[in-house]
Amino acid sequence: MKKILVTGGCGYIGGHTIVDLVNNGFDVISIDDLSRGSLRMNNGIEKVLGKPIKNYRVNLCNLEDAQAVFIENPDIIGIIHFAAFKSVPESVEQPLRYYRNNIDSLVNILQCAKEYGVRHFVFSSSCSVYGNAKQLPVEETAPLQEPESPYARTKQMGEDICRDITRVDRDFNAMLLRYFNPVGAHDSVLIGELQEKPENLVPVITQTAIGKRKEMHVFGYDYETRDGSCVRDYIHVMDIANAHTRALQYMIEGRNRERCEVFNLGTGNGVTVLELIKAFEEVSGQKLNYQLGDRRPGDVIEVYANNNKARALLGWETKYNLHQMMDTAWRWEQAQKAEAERIQLN
Ligand code: WQD
Repeated sequence: MKKILVTGGCGYIGGHTIVDLVNNGFDVISIDDLSRGSLRMNNGIEKVLGKPIKNYRVNLCNLEDAQAVFIENPDIIGIIHFAAFKSVPESVEQPLRYYRNNIDSLVNILQCAKEYGVRHFVFSSSCSVYGNAKQLPVEETAPLQEPESPYARTKQMGEDICRDITRVDRDFNAMLLRYFNPVGAHDSVLIGELQEKPENLVPVITQTAIGKRKEMHVFGYDYETRDGSCVRDYIHVMDIANAHTRALQYMIEGRNRERCEVFNLGTGNGVTVLELIKAFEEVSGQKLNYQLGDRRPGDVIEVYANNNKARALLGWETKYNLHQMMDTAWRWEQAQKAEAERIQLN
């Protein structure tokens, strides 16, 4: 079987991608130091797949520890690199920590790929590299604006590093996947987004709805958009996961036209914060307790994807609509509450 290394495999998108890879016939191992990821994800994956996925608890900033994984697994043919810190406000407060962690770990994993002959590499990038894009829907060829945070800058730098490597190493292929706003959970709700104090909109909504938070604020309602709130391209995490599997297959089958290619992973639909809240209320059947509040510094007003390239070249189609995204997010929140109550009873 084709063995793939997923770094950050105990994280939200990494964990869901492992499920899709295994369902598509790949053998998978994970590297995750659990500083942000959780063994609950690894346990959940085992329940979904009916078999364990080995996780190496390794910090990729330690080159020797990373190399040891490759020595033990000489049959790795591809890497999907998720492992990184990803909080925008945290990166603004601690830029050095973000550059050290996100760039050192990327350079080390790329060095391992070169040293151990792994030729296929998928880099977890982000729509935040576009900043406030001038033209919407945003295409992969859009000029990148000044990033609004050190986190976004580490993604821009990461893309450039991958591009430079593929320029000189004719054997090495890198697919740069720019996620828009990943949301939701696997249909089984055995895995999902694990964040105690989330900043992202959808977990804030579900935690407010289930009573973990008293209320939530809509950050800005006077923007130049159709209802005054910001526009984003929310996409189900399993659609994001499947794009990674397809990007690997695209390289392994030699279909890639260039050694380094960029793909937008979004649905192509822009949805406002208030529209998303309305969709949640329709799915959950309950009114959400939210207040209209001040704008959040650094927020992009409107961004959504042109996803034609991924659809055409990867044969990728998004399968989940907004209501299904909200349904799995809500059922995941409810499952976490039931699990917490079960643990309390025992
Ligand atoms: C979405 C909208 C908020 C919370 C993030 C990452 C980015 C990328 C995509 C990884 C905004 C509004 C939010 C709340 C609100 N991820 N909001 N009340 O900022 O688009 O981007 O996901 O690559 O790097 O930062 O996502 O979910 O934080 O915000 O009104 O309590 O929801 O203002 O308009 P964002 P988000």
